Amino acid sequence: MAQAKGDLPLLDRRLAIVTGKGGTGKTTVAAALARAAADRGRRVLVTEVGRDAQVPRLLDPSAPEVGYEEREIVPGIWVMRIDPFAALSEYLGLQIGMPGLVARVLQNRGFRQLMGASPGWRDLITLGKVWHLEQMVGNGRPKYDLIIVDAPATGHGMTFLDVPRVVAAAVRAGPLRQHTLAVEEMIADPERTVLIPVALAEELPTRETVALVRRVRDELSIHVDRVIVNAVHDLPFSTDLGDLDAHLARLPDSLRFESLPAPTVLARCVRYLRARWMLNQRYLAEIQQHTKLPTVTLPYLTFGVRDADDLERLARATVAEPLGETV
Ligand SMILES: Nc1ncnc2c1ncn2[C@@H]1O[C@H](COP(=O)(O)OP(=O)(O)OP(=O)(O)O)[C@@H](O)[C@H]1O
Ligand SMILES: [Mg+2]
Repeated sequence: MAQAKGDLPLLDRRLAIVTGKGGTGKTTVAAALARAAADRGRRVLVTEVGRDAQVPRLLDPSAPEVGYEEREIVPGIWVMRIDPFAALSEYLGLQIGMPGLVARVLQNRGFRQLMGASPGWRDLITLGKVWHLEQMVGNGRPKYDLIIVDAPATGHGMTFLDVPRVVAAAVRAGPLRQHTLAVEEMIADPERTVLIPVALAEELPTRETVALVRRVRDELSIHVDRVIVNAVHDLPFSTDLGDLDAHLARLPDSLRFESLPAPTVLARCVRYLRARWMLNQRYLAEIQQHTKLPTVTLPYLTFGVRDADDLERLARATVAEPLGETV
């Protein structure tokens, strides 16, 4: 059966934009996705938009710093940090053809202050650079099979994706309009681009994720087909032991199991673990219900993301089949 447009497996797109509330795990998910794609033979580029690149360290603790140049950190995975001023300098240099002059203007303090006062240009120029990278070819094929954008946290992340549309509506002619339309076309094509919201199964990130998905549906034409819910706690005992804490609480406190603490203490530990699990399950269900999207869950790693094995574990989970109905 022919696959519907926008029904492609996650890694078969050209561009995956990872977004979500601050601290939900966007950078970790971007690195895990890159790992999963490279494990399947894809050539992957991760572009970080923030101040410093954190993906290299997740891929290899001894990785060098990366800047505006793409750098292969581990086989098959390149990383770069898009500095908007560097991207603007490159763009204007190509347009005007006098890179020296452009560089001098961009170094000018007054010019930088002026640009600092109108943040929208950063988003446009960053996405323009991503488009440029997507267009790059080598040996007759795209230079990168997949480009993963570690986007700014939501709030700002939404304007990030909104800017091409706003600029295309305001600028009626000229090369800026042409380039902006090309960027918009890339973002709106479900076969090329997918937006990946990253959430935590907790109250505030759930609320923000629901709002994000609504806005994406109502205002942006960008494909979104799943929510990645990060750091979901496992139930550390089987569900048929659901009343384990109640059983423990009923035992006399004088009873001791070798060097273990008193039954009431054990009961409190078990209750805490179950409550954490239940909280995650409740918000996981809310995310599915209110976004009307299936979810992919990544396990909570007790000691954080320490090494390649931890990242590999998250990578496998990231590309699992989403659970829950798409309505
Ligand atoms: N599944 C997980 N289990 C345990 N710790 C995790 C998990 N995922 C991420 N973390 C940890 O949570 C912290 C935040 O993750 P990360 O930096 O990826 O979030 P972010 O959304 O990119 O944050 P920011 O908004 O600041 O860019 C990091 O210390 C990371 O190691
Ligand atoms: Mg980050």
